[in-house]
Amino acid sequence: IDPVRYIADRSSGAQGSAIAQALVGLGARVTFISGPASAPMPEGVDLVRVETAAEMLTAVQRNLPADGAVFAAAVADWRVASASDSKIKKDGSGALPVLEFAENPDILATVSQMKEGRPGLVVGFAAETDHVLDHATAKRLRKGCDWIVANDVSPETGIMGGSENDVTLISETGAEDWPRMGKQAVADRLAAKMAEVLGG
Ligand code: CTP
Repeated sequence: IDPVRYIADRSSGAQGSAIAQALVGLGARVTFISGPASAPMPEGVDLVRVETAAEMLTAVQRNLPADGAVFAAAVADWRVASASDSKIKKDGSGALPVLEFAENPDILATVSQMKEGRPGLVVGFAAETDHVLDHATAKRLRKGCDWIVANDVSPETGIMGGSENDVTLISETGAEDWPRMGKQAVADRLAAKMAEVLGG
């Protein structure tokens, strides 16, 4: 918004970190592109730090080609259209600031729809609060990724920012409901499935 304020969300980045760690454990060479996250960074990866969605898209494109790509970042859908270079001050009149937004690039959709050089396996996430399966199934088709990991991020699930996840893996062939388990266990299972497909 301005030099001292920003818009963020409740994601910790833990699920993405865990997936990168699991893939490293299976012997993959992993580039980990991370926004500001509170979860510990994975070890044994090439780490690229970014702050904005536009920077993340550029970093992703720079680091292709890849056999597989996982998009677990909670990318902001919108950014403030014209961020202020100086701190926005109260002027004493009680007038409230008005923020205008612009839509961010959709990184997962951009990569999924690449005509040339698309990764062989593109995995996205779907964070939903209602009609999880329907929304996530539609999201997979709309974005064009191969798999989508759907999760219910309603506050009562404690998933966003928590240590456990309850996911459904959706692919062209159907939906697989996994039991609720730790985020590292979800990551291990997902990485193993990726390795099966990618021949690792
Ligand atoms: N994603 C992305 N770039 C964005 C927004 C989302 O790459 N600008 C990716 C996320 O990393 C995730 C997937 O798209 O893999 C779905 O994100 P999600 O927040 O569930 O959905 P949205 O794209 O925001 O769609 P909606 O607003 O309809 O829920």
